[in-house]
Amino acid sequence: MSDAWAGVEAVEARPLAALFEAEPDRLARLVVDEAGICFDFSKTHLSAPLVAAFEALADAQGLERARTSLFSGEIVNHSEGRAAEHTAERGQGAPESVARARQLHARMRALVDAIEAEALGPIRSILHVGIGGSALGPAFLIDALGRDSGRYETAVVSNVDGAALEEALRRFDPATTLIVIASKSFTTAETLLNARSALAWLEEGGVADPYGRAIAVTAEPERAIEFGIDETRILPFSDTVGGRYSLWSAVGFPAALALGWAGFEELLEGAAAMDRHFRHQPLGRNAPVLAAFADLYYGSVRGAESRAVFAYDERLRLLPAYLQQLEMESNGKSATQDGRPVGRATAPITWGGVGTDAQHALFQLLHQGSHLVPVEFVAAIEPEHGLEFDHHRQLLANCFAQGAALMAGKASDDPVRALPGDRPSTTLLLDRVDPFTLGALIAFYEHRTFVNATLLGINPFDQFGVELGKEIARTIGRGGNGTIDPSTRALITRAFGEVSNE
Ligand code: F6P
Repeated sequence: MSDAWAGVEAVEARPLAALFEAEPDRLARLVVDEAGICFDFSKTHLSAPLVAAFEALADAQGLERARTSLFSGEIVNHSEGRAAEHTAERGQGAPESVARARQLHARMRALVDAIEAEALGPIRSILHVGIGGSALGPAFLIDALGRDSGRYETAVVSNVDGAALEEALRRFDPATTLIVIASKSFTTAETLLNARSALAWLEEGGVADPYGRAIAVTAEPERAIEFGIDETRILPFSDTVGGRYSLWSAVGFPAALALGWAGFEELLEGAAAMDRHFRHQPLGRNAPVLAAFADLYYGSVRGAESRAVFAYDERLRLLPAYLQQLEMESNGKSATQDGRPVGRATAPITWGGVGTDAQHALFQLLHQGSHLVPVEFVAAIEPEHGLEFDHHRQLLANCFAQGAALMAGKASDDPVRALPGDRPSTTLLLDRVDPFTLGALIAFYEHRTFVNATLLGINPFDQFGVELGKEIARTIGRGGNGTIDPSTRALITRAFGEVSNE
């Protein structure tokens, strides 16, 4: 264990109530206001000495240097030998990368305008096929912000289960549907199969040139051309933009259609505001940094195995799913950048749901269960709806009450009725759910993930763990199973009734 980690572990663990008593300036230190979001970390166990110990760890792990490298377009993804330039998409990065991103955005904008001008015929619905980072971001954005725009009907289909595609197609008319095929690699089996089926559906629906009604979004334009998409309908993005960090690039194309170009630009501006905050604020007043300190404290020091995120806003209901990929695919690793065992717990399991539903289903465990689960509440002050009754006050009242109850607990002589309290939570209170604020929120999570990775010494930008399963699926999908274990072999035989030793 490094001395800096020893410093973190040596800090006396004190209950939240004691911390509030001993540190009257907690709110001033641990509430950060930025880009229309109030980040409240005061109900975590981040005491002044603990923050200082984490600052020393950040220093030992070269966080400030790593941050500079990230924004300068240096190679930070060492296993794949490339930079991670998602921030260049929002104007924060190496000048040549920012210029290239602007060029690609201009191309994207031209296509948004062309579609709005009906250059590809009248388009009423958008079918976006993609998976992982090529689906979760657009799905989240469209669900959160595009609901009432009335611009297009949109469906994001990711699963290779044909039921998902069929359900989307049932809603759409082939004569007025545009297909967006998003895949950074343009080799992902699920996406290519869904794309082929969607194109076949267009053809069966009487569209004379189905490929002419498809847009490809990819970092590998040559592969999209080989697939049959005309170069003029390919929206490229840089291969230095990681899949789960890509919604700012052409991967956000369906969101740009749903929100309109001005909305998409506001999203980028919100993210840029958070980039500037992350770059320039001192560590102890830096929202992504403080959030990561708390994450590491609970995960690596207190042994919390998961982290729960609850959206107290229907528009943000897809946030937990989005964060699962961002956090778990980025930091679910056991080896450091330079190939040594990390030797500590890395990314916790991110899970969550929607308040108030979750309160009536699983909050029992959070209040009285035996697991330590740091909870994050995300809510917005402005409601989405125009109902007269006080839905929104009740919604926020519930959100705030849960954080208070987790911290305070309740004494009782009867252990069955006692709530231990001292359970940590953070609250992210947005002024409103709009493109700017959402851009800042998502960028906050990206940077938090980066800080977690840097302090643990891992590379958040690769994902070798997902490859083996894909490889085996390819073999089974082709009808082979020769080298597979007896249990899996028996399942294959039961499902397909065939055995090949390929
Ligand atoms: O399997 C994991 C993964 O590679 C993710 O990292 C990525 O977001 C997703 O698959 C989709 O990849 P692509 O955009 O290349 O189709």
